[in-house]
Amino acid sequence: MTLDDVMYNCRAMRRIKTDEVPEELLLELIDAANQAPSGSNSQKARWVVVRDPAIKKQLADQNRLHAAPYIAADVQNPRTPKLKRMLDAVVWQMDHMHEIPTLIVACFDYPEKVEGLGVYRSAGSVWPGIQNLLLKARSLGLGAAPTTLALRDQDAVRAILKLPETFAALCVIPVGYPIGNFGPVTRKPIAEVMRFDEWNS
Ligand SMILES: Cc1cc2nc3c(=O)[nH]c(=O)nc-3n(C[C@H](O)[C@H](O)[C@H](O)COP(=O)(O)O)c2cc1C
Repeated sequence: MTLDDVMYNCRAMRRIKTDEVPEELLLELIDAANQAPSGSNSQKARWVVVRDPAIKKQLADQNRLHAAPYIAADVQNPRTPKLKRMLDAVVWQMDHMHEIPTLIVACFDYPEKVEGLGVYRSAGSVWPGIQNLLLKARSLGLGAAPTTLALRDQDAVRAILKLPETFAALCVIPVGYPIGNFGPVTRKPIAEVMRFDEWNS
């Protein structure tokens, strides 16, 4: 696949088979993530690749705890067919997260323990790596999706993963072989999201 093939077809793939992902592919994903830039080249992004069923179950429980109320109103009354399709996939992921073979947790190692909005202070030094990982997964034919709802209780996640207290967990990326096909992403036209030189003129 060309870079464009990968970028333009890197959907959030939530429905994932239970088949194991070979360890060498997981290492390739983390190696790609680790090539990303970070502020002052700090290289403080950290990656926990969770395969243990008991630990996955605890992360899946955290996801359900926060995802269920977050989507409840839209599930009751999805405003568009497109939103309904996405919610169906989010519910599927919520019900099956513990069965997905790998949950990769992207973290940042701060100089001190962080709480509240402080958790996101250096998120910009982790998300380029997350995107690298998603693109690499797509190029390998693996399904993956960035998720954050499981991480609302940072103390709970630190306890589940035995993270040092200086770690903030920023993204859970369930990874495995996709159920169904990858489609192209659909985004707003660039005329809507860009201007040359000034926004209001
Ligand atoms: C910062 C961020 C947080 C996200 N959190 C979640 C999440 O908690 N659960 C989930 O199912 N998807 C989550 N997503 C995935 C988005 O819903 C998805 O990327 C978006 O709907 C576009 O999907 P598409 O690429 O398939 O078109 C998140 C994405 C980003 C960038």
